[in-house]
Amino acid sequence: MATILITGGHSGIGIECSKLLASTYHYNLILAGRSPEKMNEFATELRNAYGIKVSVLKMDTSSLSSVRLGVAECCKMLDNGEVDTLQAIICNAGIRLNGKISYTADGYEETIATNYLGHALLVELLIDRVAENGRIVFTASGTHDPDTTDGKMMGIAAEYSVTELANTGKDSKKPVSLGKLYATSKLDIILYAYELDRRLRKSGSSILSIAYDPGATSGTGFLRSMPKPVQWLAGSSFAHWLMKRNGVTMGDIVLSGKFLATVTANPKYANGSGKYFQSNDGNLIEQKSSKLSYDEQRARKLWNDTKTLIHLQPNEEAKIFR
Ligand SMILES: NC(=O)c1ccc[n+]([C@@H]2O[C@H](COP(=O)([O-])OP(=O)(O)OC[C@H]3O[C@@H](n4cnc5c(N)ncnc54)[C@H](OP(=O)(O)O)[C@@H]3O)[C@@H](O)[C@H]2O)c1
Repeated sequence: MATILITGGHSGIGIECSKLLASTYHYNLILAGRSPEKMNEFATELRNAYGIKVSVLKMDTSSLSSVRLGVAECCKMLDNGEVDTLQAIICNAGIRLNGKISYTADGYEETIATNYLGHALLVELLIDRVAENGRIVFTASGTHDPDTTDGKMMGIAAEYSVTELANTGKDSKKPVSLGKLYATSKLDIILYAYELDRRLRKSGSSILSIAYDPGATSGTGFLRSMPKPVQWLAGSSFAHWLMKRNGVTMGDIVLSGKFLATVTANPKYANGSGKYFQSNDGNLIEQKSSKLSYDEQRARKLWNDTKTLIHLQPNEEAKIFR
């Protein structure tokens, strides 16, 4: 049975996604994340409920060394047969921080490191092991688009380069706000997904690169860094009504998780590479992403800056792109 690796597959929208991949699509899973205890507990639940193989992989996406170690472990599992064919990678882990700006051990702003840089490194190091017709799926967010209510709600995505954002606040200037950093981390993941698609097509690969927006989804751990009253209010039916009325893209913890599994595994989405899908009020739809996200020049620069930030060594560069 082929295997799908998912970051953040043990909580929030990841839970329903993992369950559907196991139950409906019959995939084995690799749960990758920074919380082995939580992942082990969910892995046991999945094994018992669906009889699939589930491996747990320690990988903190905010840490370049942790991603490298996690990928090395994953390759070992593929080599020794513990894990079957790698059919897809789902880059789903993400944070929206609150409070003071924080930096990772690599010295990068934590949101950009966790949501974007760690996943770019994961894909670069593992894409050569993905099966033909496999898929790379990126959990994005409608907040990346400044022309939508979603984008205005969180903080308008910043025009700065990823290098500036990863180092924001270090030059004694005021740092970019955490809302903008979140929105821009998601803009960057979409730019990266589209650039990956162009490079895969150019190389003749059959692998797909897909961006997916789960919509504003309550009941997940997404707002955990916010004050308790904000979390409570955001989960209330009044907030749901108000957001919907104001044109926010509304997700749902079960459906948004299921749709993430759908774009990853359903044959209907075999032509989905380079596209952006959205969970929107109970429906899975193809959607246009922001104007900026189609800027190919910006995407090329992002791709190159990213390689520098993740300290990609020549021998680490995916063969597919050489
Ligand atoms: N909920 C929404 O309204 C919404 C809207 C648009 C997009 N999204 C995106 O959807 C994705 C899933 O979020 P969610 O709403 O399901 O929230 P969630 O329940 O908080 O899930 C986030 C997952 O990311 C993992 N994670 C966080 N930091 C990590 C790190 N440094 N290394 C590895 N894993 C890490 C968490 O693991 P731990 O258990 O270890 O913390 C958790 O499993 C995120 O990318 C989020 O940005 C959410």
